[in-house]
Amino acid sequence: MDANATIRALRQALAASPDNVPLRQHLADTLFAFGHHADAEQELLALLKLAPDDAAAMLLLARCYRAQGKGSAAAVVLERLAARGDARGAVELAKLLAAEGDVDAALRGYRRAVAADPTVRDAEFEQRFGIVGADADRDAGAAEVVDGRVRAAGASAPDGVDELRPVRSDVKFAHVGGMAELKQEIRKKIVLPLQRADLYQAYGKKVGGGILMYGPPGCGKTFLARATAGEIDATFLSVGIHDVLEMWLGQSERNLHGVFATARRHAPCVLFFDEVDALGASRGDMKHSAGRQTINQFLAELDGLGSDNDGLLVLAATNAPWHMDSAFRRPGRFDRVIFVPPPDLEARGDILRLLLAGKPQDDVDFAAVAKRTERFSGADLKALVDRAIEARLDDAVRRGLPEPLRTRDLLAAAKLQKPTTSEWFAAAKNYVLYANDAGLYDDLKEYLRL
Ligand SMILES: Nc1ncnc2c1ncn2[C@@H]1O[C@H](COP(=O)(O)OP(=O)(O)OP(=O)(O)O)[C@@H](O)[C@H]1O
Ligand SMILES: [Mg+2]
Repeated sequence: MDANATIRALRQALAASPDNVPLRQHLADTLFAFGHHADAEQELLALLKLAPDDAAAMLLLARCYRAQGKGSAAAVVLERLAARGDARGAVELAKLLAAEGDVDAALRGYRRAVAADPTVRDAEFEQRFGIVGADADRDAGAAEVVDGRVRAAGASAPDGVDELRPVRSDVKFAHVGGMAELKQEIRKKIVLPLQRADLYQAYGKKVGGGILMYGPPGCGKTFLARATAGEIDATFLSVGIHDVLEMWLGQSERNLHGVFATARRHAPCVLFFDEVDALGASRGDMKHSAGRQTINQFLAELDGLGSDNDGLLVLAATNAPWHMDSAFRRPGRFDRVIFVPPPDLEARGDILRLLLAGKPQDDVDFAAVAKRTERFSGADLKALVDRAIEARLDDAVRRGLPEPLRTRDLLAAAKLQKPTTSEWFAAAKNYVLYANDAGLYDDLKEYLRL
């Protein structure tokens, strides 16, 4: 029988008994085997209506999605399987993550799955990532289950955190162009309590809580955090949340504690968490969502801040505050959420001046260029300057002599350069319009004049 005849026969049989789950699975298997991925998907969706927990159907459905290039749909299905403790689903998820380039998460997921059920080992995957049998087995043997999560006991302390070293920052508020309001807020919330701890204590005012900065990329969040440390002559410890999470499973909690402990040892210290949305991911971005346990640990550390005024200042930054668990925003935690807009006119002038410092230039009218670069991020301005310099260089090479940069070179480059913040604003707008219940994004709303 050829493929079509087989499929026709199966369909006929199914028409006679539409609730026959194994039969529908068989049809889906056959469709899939012959490359009819979309048809197989339809059958599986129908099957899952009858048997919503059918693991085999879910697994094949994920394969159908993947075969059709719907990676995120596949991820959702596999994530559900994996969350249920289905080791085969977890291995498939690991393969999907690996294919998407998230190798660390893939390896972690794979090890966890194999530890829970060694029969799901995948030779191809292991070969590709150089996992030797003993390696996987050792982890499997050492694994213990804690709160439904597998914790790899005995895994060595991850690199990175131990080497976290707070640095002295040589940037101060004065180096940050514009952002007057933001600086004021940070002063009130962070700088003054530290400098006048006696006063705050006298009035019984609790010190603590952090500031969460959000906004489009390249607009100075990281820069401002560093400047805050410089401003009060505190040490600066910047932690990418990914550094904390990309570690052995079950160890993130310990790592987080280590981060806070390190910062306390170097107090006064500005502890800066970059990309903090990776930690708070409430749903969507499952690739980066941390375990509940890690989030709880983080919140507990934050709560400890106010209790003793230990000279620890916490700032965090994100491009996607909407992905953060609302538990982060309770009083005493990140109870101030501040929008960091693209540099304003004044800041753009400052940034341009900084970028051109030391380069051959001829009486550049910075204000004029600043005026033509609305919504440009700091990074965009840098790209603009690079572009102008390149054009000038071409000319210089042709004529054999270096000519200084002029206002019009920069203006010409500004015309060619588009602000990269537009994309961010397009996405952010939806959250302002449809997810601004608590007024969280009011300053962004005002900025967008919505
Ligand atoms: N207001 C400003 N004053 C001076 N320089 C600025 C300002 N804003 C941005 N810059 C410059 O732009 C660069 C990029 O900014 P920064 O890395 O702080 O952006 P970010 O908001 O942290 O971006 P991301 O969201 O991508 O992490 C800074 O290193 C700095 O040189
Ligand atoms: Mg940054």
